Amino acid sequence: MSESVQLIYNNETFEFPLVEGTENEKGIDIKTLRAQTGLVTLDPGFKNSGSCKSEVTYLNGEKGELKYRGYSIEDLADGADFLEVAYLLIFGSLPTKAQLDKFQDDINKEALVDEDLKVILKSFPRSAHPMGALASLTAALTAFNPESVDVDSDEDMYNAIVAIMAKFPIICAWTHRKVKGLPLNYYDCNLSYVDNIAQMMFRLPNREYVANPIVKNALNKLLILHADHEQNCSTSTVRIVGSSHAGLFASISAGISALWGPLHGGANQAVLEMLEAIDADGGDTKKYMAKAKDKSDPFRLMGFGHRVYKNFDPRARIIKKSADEVLNDLGINDPILEVAKGLEQEALNDAYFVDRKLYPNVDFYSGIIYRALGIPTEMFTVMFALGRLPGWIAQWREMRKNNEPIGRPRQIFTGNTNLPFQSLDQR
Ligand code: ACO
Repeated sequence: MSESVQLIYNNETFEFPLVEGTENEKGIDIKTLRAQTGLVTLDPGFKNSGSCKSEVTYLNGEKGELKYRGYSIEDLADGADFLEVAYLLIFGSLPTKAQLDKFQDDINKEALVDEDLKVILKSFPRSAHPMGALASLTAALTAFNPESVDVDSDEDMYNAIVAIMAKFPIICAWTHRKVKGLPLNYYDCNLSYVDNIAQMMFRLPNREYVANPIVKNALNKLLILHADHEQNCSTSTVRIVGSSHAGLFASISAGISALWGPLHGGANQAVLEMLEAIDADGGDTKKYMAKAKDKSDPFRLMGFGHRVYKNFDPRARIIKKSADEVLNDLGINDPILEVAKGLEQEALNDAYFVDRKLYPNVDFYSGIIYRALGIPTEMFTVMFALGRLPGWIAQWREMRKNNEPIGRPRQIFTGNTNLPFQSLDQR
């Protein structure tokens, strides 16, 4: 017999079924709660609420486990190419060589954007934050690709996915080149997807671009580690915007805006700014630890804590090792890394952080690598978005294929309901 839970309200007993995931995670199915009882639930920040069933990414915050479509993040970061992982997330299985070649070829065919997009970018001030420019340009892609996607057609869906996978790295690189005042360049169909990201960002107009394998490996790993993270803030945004049947570009653009905030993807920029400030202030990590614990001080230790991980973020483990390797390989001696290590050591041994299970998250070390690769701080969250794109697409596709209803939460209203109106001259 399937399990259920009982709710007693007004001396009446109501029964709700339990749903169970692959790893025996259980949830109460309250779809009929309001119809049966007249009640709704209240869960600000959705700390206890599942919004969907999903087959894309498995995350166990207590054990510190992360799997994409059944494959551990450690194995993927170690052995896969980012485009393979993108295919895996979006279509559900690792591609064969033929499938991957076709995916790459199809991306190559779409890897151009309308020249008029440059006019939009040109109208932004040089000081515009790249994430704002990226969200705008991604939304603008809708105007240049106005056909709506028939989600019941696998071919239509595939074409839309290929189009955004192809065009997104170009506009990401352009936001960087705009800040740097460099000419906007193009995707090179002779190079791989990850090599293209590097060349489009770093190629200078007056010299040949020579790919650096250390940069490529580090970028590949970072992109894979950021590729999906189940129902986080930006992914939930993509799903909820898409649930109104808004198009893929519009949904992704909304996800970019959600990612920008410093409590989410914007944390990687905030971490580096924090580490630089601590370093400039003499490197006194104890002082900043005290500030982070002081409830009257708004300062938080950026890059620490996570809504779901109450154990080490497995991505942080991989990135930390990678940061050491990259700095070593590139021969960089960065004092910021020492500040980061000092903070981490203190936090891991401090009762405040231990009791609240606050561990370094993925963003704590990613910025150090981006910085070593020569990527400016304000581009860090764009790099995150580049990695997260396949996850957003996979979740959007799943939501549309499952024909999920429009996302529309309820509320508990606590405002006035009965005020007599007074005209302006009487107020
Ligand atoms: N520094 C100091 N104290 C912290 C921190 C921190 N970074 N994070 C959480 N706390 C404290 C809170 O003050 C709270 O303390 P209290 O119980 O005494 O009131 C307790 O830990 C729980 O914190 P919440 O904010 O309730 O936890 P929540 O799950 O809502 O927030 C979040 C998670 C937003 C990530 C938070 O830990 C934070 O702000 N971290 C810093 C920003 C950051 O690194 N964000 C990146 C997240 S990863 C990503 O998006 C890819």
